Amino acid sequence: MKGKAAARLLVRAIELRSGLTPSSSSRHFSSGSRSFFLDKLARPVPHQISRCGSSRFSSSAAAHVVNSQNSPTDHENHKNDDQQFSNYWGIITKKTLREDGTPWPWNCFKPSDSYVSDTSIDVKKHHIPDAVVDKVALKTVKFLRALSDLFFQERHGCHAVLLETVAAVPGMVGGMLLHCKSLRKFEHSGGWIKALLEEAENERMHLMTFMEVFQPKWYERALVLAVQGVFFNGYFALYLIFPRLAHRFVGYLEEEAVASYTEFLAALDKGSMPNTPAPAIAIDYWRLPSDATLRDVVFVVRADEAHHRDVNHFAADAHLQGKELKDSPAPIGYH
Ligand SMILES: [Fe+2]
Ligand SMILES: [Fe+2]
Repeated sequence: MKGKAAARLLVRAIELRSGLTPSSSSRHFSSGSRSFFLDKLARPVPHQISRCGSSRFSSSAAAHVVNSQNSPTDHENHKNDDQQFSNYWGIITKKTLREDGTPWPWNCFKPSDSYVSDTSIDVKKHHIPDAVVDKVALKTVKFLRALSDLFFQERHGCHAVLLETVAAVPGMVGGMLLHCKSLRKFEHSGGWIKALLEEAENERMHLMTFMEVFQPKWYERALVLAVQGVFFNGYFALYLIFPRLAHRFVGYLEEEAVASYTEFLAALDKGSMPNTPAPAIAIDYWRLPSDATLRDVVFVVRADEAHHRDVNHFAADAHLQGKELKDSPAPIGYH
């Protein structure tokens, strides 16, 4: 009963928040579906059922353990409850298998998002600044690099984690703004929305990978909060006003990322950092061999950064030539 009462309060709160009166809400929730909604809200969530389950997402197997003392019918009912909860919106997530038939364990990416990194890319390439805009971008990046080196010094792992939290922002902001521009102007983006969002996702996967190996300290997490607040808004404004400078800035930022990962590799080769086994997420994402190490991961991440460098310098060059990005072919799939 308490659950039903709480559910009614919650439904009422949703109605008030969305500006719906109880009578108007009936246009959205028929009496049948409303009682179904109430019934669902009142039902205990699976992780409350399975007190012994350590998994965040309780499975029907966990429900099985908890209900093993009950009758077979009770067990079946609870099992069905669990399945109904999982498929609440009527969406059944398809199980994905690896090529060898083992279950694909990642929800954050699918096999179609994984790839073999192109490590043949030139990691020493540098865009020589020839315009004032380029020089401003380079000087700003060099200044930020000096600050981060001062802060992290030889802690390459934490440096990589923090770098990725920043590096994943520009692609998302650029992609979002191009998306809005496409809507506003009733025009195609030339594939650039997807290309920039791909870059952001690739950077986020770098972060997810390094998080498996290095755990940032509380003050480093606090720094990420502060930096993201400033950087997201700053980059948003910059991209709106001066997209050429924004892309050039990211191009130089990626050059520094390549340099940072080169130093990381040197530290691993010197033995000043342990070359631990590669995290499972990295093996699946970059299709690395099962005995891959941290060095192999850093090697492919560095190649990705070199690709981001080229994509952003290319975008800045397109702007420099007075073109719109939509008129230049977007490097989709070019990680
Ligand atoms: Fe990255
Ligand atoms: Fe990058």
